Amino acid sequence: MPGWPLAFDGLRIAHVSDLHFGELMPMDRALGIARLINEAKPDMLCNTGDLVDLDCAGVAPLVEALASVHAPLGNFFVMGNHDELDAGDHVERLMTDAGTTVLDDEICVIRRGDSALRVGGIGWARTGGHCRARIDRALGPEGGVDLLLSHNPKAFDHAAERGTSLVLSGHTHGGQIARRNRPNANLAIAHRRSAGLYELGPSRLFVTTGAGAWFPLRVNCPAEVAFLTIRRSDQVSN
Ligand SMILES: [Fe+2]
Repeated sequence: MPGWPLAFDGLRIAHVSDLHFGELMPMDRALGIARLINEAKPDMLCNTGDLVDLDCAGVAPLVEALASVHAPLGNFFVMGNHDELDAGDHVERLMTDAGTTVLDDEICVIRRGDSALRVGGIGWARTGGHCRARIDRALGPEGGVDLLLSHNPKAFDHAAERGTSLVLSGHTHGGQIARRNRPNANLAIAHRRSAGLYELGPSRLFVTTGAGAWFPLRVNCPAEVAFLTIRRSDQVSN
């Protein structure tokens, strides 16, 4: 990452998204995923939304398990579209009350010595224009963030314009069905950037294919929790 703060070189992020707690993600499987994340001892947990599928009833034990993951530099969550389907305010409140930092068009500054890592997050935004408005609300008229969480990867264009180093997103599930060895040739046809790592100037976007599912099939596109180690690059970018 060009421009990543040196004091945070080597930061290990667990990036989970799209658990879709519900029929296709029963509680025992979801709790197993939370346990796996905790055992990996990340510095930071970034959950980019769609915690629930259709109905948030019964999700509390999963909320507790995710909130209790030991992640000393922060345990962050942004809302996805599915989180709003049933009772968005309730999901957001459950997460906050459990101790998770819900970033709803806002930023959080993490300090290490004299250095700071600026982490921003935006709520669910359907279009690139909506993403732009939320990013500007989070960042204000000036300045930027090092890391931005957005359920929708369509935030990347404007986040890059605002000088964001890294954007983490989900939402696409990588289409769930992809061509062999071509993760970008998949069913998520509404998205130009639907799986893996993308670059725009010095900015980077990582789109996880997600932990859960909308339908009970994945082909050449396994479910995942991504563990990312962020390295600062001294290479001068355009
Ligand atoms: Fe989504």
